[in-house]
Amino acid sequence: MAIQKVGVIGCGLMGSGIVQVAAQAGFDVRVREIDDAALAKGLARIDKFLQNGVDKGKLTAEQKAAVLGRIHGTTKLADLADCDLVVEAAIENIAAKHEVFAALDAACGPNAIFASNTSSLSITEMAAKTKRPSRFVGLHFFNPVPLMQLVEVVKTPMTDPAVFAEIEAFALKLPKVVVTAQDTPGFVVNRLLVPYLLDAIRVLESGVATKEDIDNGMKLGCGHPMGPLTLLDFVGLDTTYYIANIMFNEFKEPRFAPPPLLKRMVLAGWLGKKSGRGFYDYSAGAK
Ligand SMILES: NC(=O)c1ccc[n+]([C@@H]2O[C@H](COP(=O)([O-])OP(=O)(O)OC[C@H]3O[C@@H](n4cnc5c(N)ncnc54)[C@H](O)[C@@H]3O)[C@@H](O)[C@H]2O)c1
Repeated sequence: MAIQKVGVIGCGLMGSGIVQVAAQAGFDVRVREIDDAALAKGLARIDKFLQNGVDKGKLTAEQKAAVLGRIHGTTKLADLADCDLVVEAAIENIAAKHEVFAALDAACGPNAIFASNTSSLSITEMAAKTKRPSRFVGLHFFNPVPLMQLVEVVKTPMTDPAVFAEIEAFALKLPKVVVTAQDTPGFVVNRLLVPYLLDAIRVLESGVATKEDIDNGMKLGCGHPMGPLTLLDFVGLDTTYYIANIMFNEFKEPRFAPPPLLKRMVLAGWLGKKSGRGFYDYSAGAK
């Protein structure tokens, strides 16, 4: 069965990017958000991204209109009932994800494949709670989805190899470069990246250097495209905090524990670029 209709749960930072790349690759996409305001915000993000492409001459206004024409936003989960694949990109919280997949399990056909974009939660745990554990994978995209080439495709001990091959083929059509991984917290990239980001916060917290010097150090000394504190602002401090807690609970290693400063910034509502303030101030639009 070839995948034709793709459903996406959540039109936030990641969901909107997943919707966009799937629609650009020619798939018919349905995206579900919790309310009209969140849906409008997510769809506006896609429109803005595509318009930038038009302004830079990377695509025509007609191509943009065709991509938008393949995207159908909704607040009703039942509108995703006839999708061949549903990718979940909601909040990084296991209870919320179980709730989403239980509702999808009831709404979608038995052949539909489910995927989670989780960064750190167990795909096996999510799959085991559904009636289709063999048709469940991890599909971990990177931010910003339209620009980042990689996707990690994650298998559990229960994943049917034919389903895994179908999802790998889907990812290649987006087109993304695929890294395959077993279901472990953080898979490959976050297993290595998250301790590094948390260490950058610890370096700031302990007064070793300013945020600008920490970022410049890693940019200019290691050739990274951006420093760790800027990257944290892009990822979202709340998302990083959830991920760190989940990885710490699984591995029980201090290097995964969220530093106190991260927790306090999240409590203060300083979530990074998406809230207008994180390690840097974005209230004027730019950093
Ligand atoms: N931010 C990143 O860099 C990044 C990278 C890879 C993976 N992820 C993962 O992707 C997921 C989403 O992260 P994000 O950064 O896009 O978060 P986000 O907060 O930007 O977006 C989440 C969206 O999901 C919506 N939502 C919540 N519950 C929903 C439901 N039941 N139905 C429909 N929509 C619902 C919210 O309204 C929100 O708009 C998380 O699991 C996260 O760990 C994030």
